[in-house]
Amino acid sequence: MNPSDNRPIGIFDSGLGGLTSLKEAKRLLPHEDFVFFGDTARVPYGNRTREELIRFSEQNIRFLRSHDVKAVLVACNTSDAMARAEMQKRFDLPIVGVIDPSAREAASATLTGSVGVIGTHVTVTSGLFNLLIPLYNPLAQVTAVETPKLVPLVESGKTSSADEETVAALNEYLAPFMGGMIDTLVLGCTHYPLLSGVIGELLPGVTLINSGAAAARQLQQTLTQKNLLADRTEPGETRFFVSGDPVSFARNGGAFLGEDLTGRVQTGQ
Ligand code: DGL
Repeated sequence: MNPSDNRPIGIFDSGLGGLTSLKEAKRLLPHEDFVFFGDTARVPYGNRTREELIRFSEQNIRFLRSHDVKAVLVACNTSDAMARAEMQKRFDLPIVGVIDPSAREAASATLTGSVGVIGTHVTVTSGLFNLLIPLYNPLAQVTAVETPKLVPLVESGKTSSADEETVAALNEYLAPFMGGMIDTLVLGCTHYPLLSGVIGELLPGVTLINSGAAAARQLQQTLTQKNLLADRTEPGETRFFVSGDPVSFARNGGAFLGEDLTGRVQTGQ
């Protein structure tokens, strides 16, 4: 029998976006326990400096480690772009990111080679998607666009096609991709899959790559390879912590996860 590890898995993001990873991770790994941390007192991360993102990421991982996690999923493209490599040097546990798995999924999904990416200022200017997608598919041509208004809209729960501000922002940002300009769009910020209903309406026929879910698939692979999966048979449990307001996180996050999080979100860090 393979060795196993029943300690929880840590997941962090600046806020609600990380739930896109958690949702897929819970589906793929139903017997695992999770500790989720959303740094909602400091969201958004998208315009932070590298120094800040390294400091925040280190604090977030230390907090998760205080809950004895066996691995960490950085469910934030922005932290991944600026801090994950440094974190992997500082901590002796597996630290899985979002950018590489989504770049791989986009590279294999595209048929025309025309790939769009939307992300935060930090993620887009890091150039990582423009570098990695053509590495995995040399025919790929990547156009990346910064979409800074989207994270605050998602955090305030404005995620539906009835929210005029959200539709206006997406119409503006997605204009370069409309009319068949791309066949694949990377939602290169884990918050954006919460907007995939509206994005799908504006870009019919375009394959949307959910970076949060792609990262969860990578997490499953990493834990399998390292013999770190839990061996229990009962369903796993998830504990939720945020640095900001637990009530609004419970309301918006619960709606996205399809779970009642009332009274289940604690203030942490
Ligand atoms: N969800 C994060 C990301 O994937 C962070 C967004 C932000 O806080 O600006 O980039």
